[in-house]
Amino acid sequence: MISLEGTELASIVKKQCAADASDFLSRFGRKPLLAVVLIGSNPSSRSYVFGKRKACDLVGIDHRDLFFPSEMTEPGLLELIDGLNTDDDVDGILVQLPLPKHINESKVINRILPSKDVDGFTPINMGNLLLGNPCLAPCTPKGILKMLDYYGISTDSKDVCIIGRSNIVGKPLSAMLLQKDRNATVTVCHSLTSNIRPHVAESDIVITAVGKPGIIDASMVKPGAAVIDVGITRVEDPSSPKGYHWAGDADYESVSRVCGAITPVPGGVGPMTIAMLMSNTVDAAFMRKGIKR
Ligand code: GUN
Repeated sequence: MISLEGTELASIVKKQCAADASDFLSRFGRKPLLAVVLIGSNPSSRSYVFGKRKACDLVGIDHRDLFFPSEMTEPGLLELIDGLNTDDDVDGILVQLPLPKHINESKVINRILPSKDVDGFTPINMGNLLLGNPCLAPCTPKGILKMLDYYGISTDSKDVCIIGRSNIVGKPLSAMLLQKDRNATVTVCHSLTSNIRPHVAESDIVITAVGKPGIIDASMVKPGAAVIDVGITRVEDPSSPKGYHWAGDADYESVSRVCGAITPVPGGVGPMTIAMLMSNTVDAAFMRKGIKR
């Protein structure tokens, strides 16, 4: 069984980004700049945003942190994005999701200039992704594919089961796996799938992204399959010194005994998402200067 170490690969990717960011600095006299917008005080969102900030510092990307209370209005946020769109020093814009209920998420995402959309969430980037055109693609799916490549796990003619149909992971990942450079046969399961078991059982690669600890156990997985666990849930645990632990969607203990490869949680997909955000930010910075790499 191979443990797919996202932390290790993320560090390699970030080193390459650092070299590219330094090249950008020497050519254009400034670092690439990522603007991160966080509304409210959701603890998971805050922790993601601090992780992104740390990675920017390591890579040599400037970050502009724009944190607002949850009372921020939708017109206020749209106006903020308009300002970032027209600010020539800003290369990437990331609005941390989820947004408070009174703000229309798709309206906000749609307002981001596609050339600065380092999350790859705008309709233009998503549409181009579906069509197989060059675009800024979502970071978690990109990180997952990078990890499969690094560990020599081909998707060619493989049966891949994705659990979760989110705009952030499931939908874009299914589109990427269907392209002619990936050639997977893709099944997407979701909350209203009548029974995920037969779909998982026949899959060579299982990618789960629902945030339900234990939804995948050893009895469901084909022996030798690769299991990519995007789920990360805080579970109260009085036996742990911190009082909690992080759990993936797969029951690691049992699944790791039958699968061929599995991502740990934490330390698997999470660090790769951040590394690909760094990569998209550097790419966006160069593309805005007319340089495609
Ligand atoms: N919330 C959870 N994952 C993500 C992500 O990849 N990007 C943004 N902007 N928000 C998120």
